Amino acid sequence: MKSTTVLTSLLSLLLTLFCATDTADHETSTASSSIIFTTLGKLDYAFDIFTLPASDTPSVTNEIQITDGTYLNFNGHFPSVSPSLLSFLLRDQALIQPPGLHESPPLQLIYVTERNGSSNIYYDAVYFIDVSARVQVPLLEIKQGKSAISMKDKPSLSGEYLIYVSTHEDTGKPRTSWAAVYSTELRTGLTRRLTPYGIADFSPAVSPSGVYTAVASYAEKGWDGEVEILTTDIYVFLTRDGTQRVKVVENGGWPSWVDDFTLFFHRRSEEDNWISVYKAILPQNGPISTGSMTIQRVTPPGLHAFTPATSPGNKKFIAVATRRPNSSYRHIELFDLVKNEFSELTRLISPKTHHLNPFISPDSNRVGYHKCRGDRNRKDKNTHLLLENLRSPLPDISLFRIDGSFPSFSPKGDQIAFVDFPGVYVVNRDGSNRRQIYPETAFSTSWNPVHEGVVYSSTGPTFASESTEVDIISIHVDDVDQISSKKLTTNGKNNAFPSVSPDGKLVVFRSGRTGYKNLYIMDAFEGEKGGLHRLTEGPWTDTMCNWSPDGNWIAFASDRDDPGSGSFELYLIHPNGTGLRKLVQSGLGGRTNHPSFSPDGKSIVFTSDYGGISAEPISNPHHYQPYGEIFTIKLDGSDLKRLTHNSFEDGTPAWGPTYIRPVDVASPKNEECAFEDCHWLNKMPNQGLGFTFLEPTKPQCGG
Ligand SMILES: *[C@@H]1O[C@H](CO)[C@@H](O)[C@H](O)[C@H]1NC(C)=O
Ligand SMILES: *[C@@H]1O[C@H](CO)[C@@H](O)[C@H](O)[C@H]1NC(C)=O
Ligand SMILES: *[C@@H]1O[C@H](CO)[C@@H](O)[C@H](O)[C@H]1NC(C)=O
Repeated sequence: MKSTTVLTSLLSLLLTLFCATDTADHETSTASSSIIFTTLGKLDYAFDIFTLPASDTPSVTNEIQITDGTYLNFNGHFPSVSPSLLSFLLRDQALIQPPGLHESPPLQLIYVTERNGSSNIYYDAVYFIDVSARVQVPLLEIKQGKSAISMKDKPSLSGEYLIYVSTHEDTGKPRTSWAAVYSTELRTGLTRRLTPYGIADFSPAVSPSGVYTAVASYAEKGWDGEVEILTTDIYVFLTRDGTQRVKVVENGGWPSWVDDFTLFFHRRSEEDNWISVYKAILPQNGPISTGSMTIQRVTPPGLHAFTPATSPGNKKFIAVATRRPNSSYRHIELFDLVKNEFSELTRLISPKTHHLNPFISPDSNRVGYHKCRGDRNRKDKNTHLLLENLRSPLPDISLFRIDGSFPSFSPKGDQIAFVDFPGVYVVNRDGSNRRQIYPETAFSTSWNPVHEGVVYSSTGPTFASESTEVDIISIHVDDVDQISSKKLTTNGKNNAFPSVSPDGKLVVFRSGRTGYKNLYIMDAFEGEKGGLHRLTEGPWTDTMCNWSPDGNWIAFASDRDDPGSGSFELYLIHPNGTGLRKLVQSGLGGRTNHPSFSPDGKSIVFTSDYGGISAEPISNPHHYQPYGEIFTIKLDGSDLKRLTHNSFEDGTPAWGPTYIRPVDVASPKNEECAFEDCHWLNKMPNQGLGFTFLEPTKPQCGG
């Protein structure tokens, strides 16, 4: 075919050009660069911790925002702090008691906070009369260096020990979670791992006496890719040192103790499919002794009730989050254990906001939870971010989360194209000149490295079959009068994920035109009519291709090891079809996707489930793939590095040619709180064995 010949000659020209290029240029560009990626909805969270009295009728006036309105505060715990620990915590604090408030003790809180690019656990004491009179103490020292980069979660205080989840230790095993429970003695900072190596533990809860800690854990069975309510088991061990670990409940999560023998937890009912709260009564001489235990269902069918919270000795009520069939919002309610009735709390004051992960004060007087703070409670009107800076484990590479998906850098690195459903956008990297360049549903973006102002994308439905019409388009973004786009594919099949060769003349993409999604190369201006060449061939899916800056390689994701299984590995192939090899695989059945080359072409950034899952997904808003984290690897398969740590879905990374100063970049957009609750909580079991699906709804600001 004539077009193929044209293409072959283009290819050889290209290769000659790049073989002749002085490599010294590439060496200098290695030094500093930036990686940006997407976390679905996260920049809309703006979580703060709030509290309501447990006994009064809830009202807007008796809801208190406890945390300080700085980026993200969640998963709170009301601690019992001894006077001596209190004076230790406040040792360096100027503010101990505001004048004239001696009678009213402060409200004390321990919580997870993400600010300044890393995750930490803070202690706050605030005064009711003036909540701006605040004492704030970071409890964990965030050290310089890569070992400090981790996710922290679900803290509680036991005596002078902080018990929490951290992901700072590499398991060394693909598809294995790094989440483990640690205990840090606050006076000394001495930290002990309580979870055995090789096991992941989530959602720790310390018993009222402090002797026992309960966790949700996969232990021996391992994570198999679950992303909805997890079928973890509940284990109990000694808080002191993690020993005497025993399984107490098969299939349960989010444990919470009333006394040392009584645990509440959630699971999906096998009879009627409602997610419900259960109670386990453990042997009276302690959970670690042998003896029979009884399990009772606590909340009735007819609604989802989960993430139970208890307080020591309180046998009258618990707090739960609910999803009711007549509401699209997650709310906090109390459940009366004597009358077996719910009483609503948060819906009465902010019906159209999601409220998550309740907790109760030790005296049972207050219920805490987190929600998006909304406009009403914003400290800083410009908190919405375009780029959120994260602490990077790689010293010369700055790391950002972008408010959009499928980002890509312009050749000079000064502009970013991205997708924000629906449509394709371009913005300067300082946040200015954000503009829509294509109005319809599109995914993936790629710039022409040579011809300025040409962005490629694919338009049509995502995750569609081979025969669905999806087309590659090129968009001229600098046309002053009217931005124009051009369809480069014309066969009506699923054509997506364009990536342009370094000479700007060719586009590699995936196409479903033969009934399987394989890779093709076409002319970057004329599209498939200007020359089309098939690069890979087989009854499987090759997709998400990216052309290396030196022109020698195309990286892509493929399920060829087990077609149709949902498992993807990364491969490399030369543009002339030789040299195929597997670059990285995340265990059997793992998912590794969205490769993007470094500017020097020596490494690849990608997203993967290599680090397993880091928290129970039900404790977060919706994520399709909550295991997604960002990694880099060298082209020879060495030096795998984990860049991100969180319980959300990180994906679609792009590696840009310049170092962006590691500070947050504000967004010109004001939307906040517009994230969705777990889609699978919209499945409401009905009378038969089926489900009724509610439409996911976006919450309203501060509503
Ligand atoms: C976080 O950054 C802000 C401004 O960038 C700075 O004022 C503050 O001191 C930093 N906080 C910590 C704990 O590093
Ligand atoms: C949903 O149903 C419950 C119980 O029937 C009722 O109390 C509540 O007001 C309803 N909520 C809404 C939002 O209609
Ligand atoms: C294919 O391309 C690679 C580099 O891109 C080159 O090393 C190799 O010699 C080429 N093979 C053929 C058969 O042209």
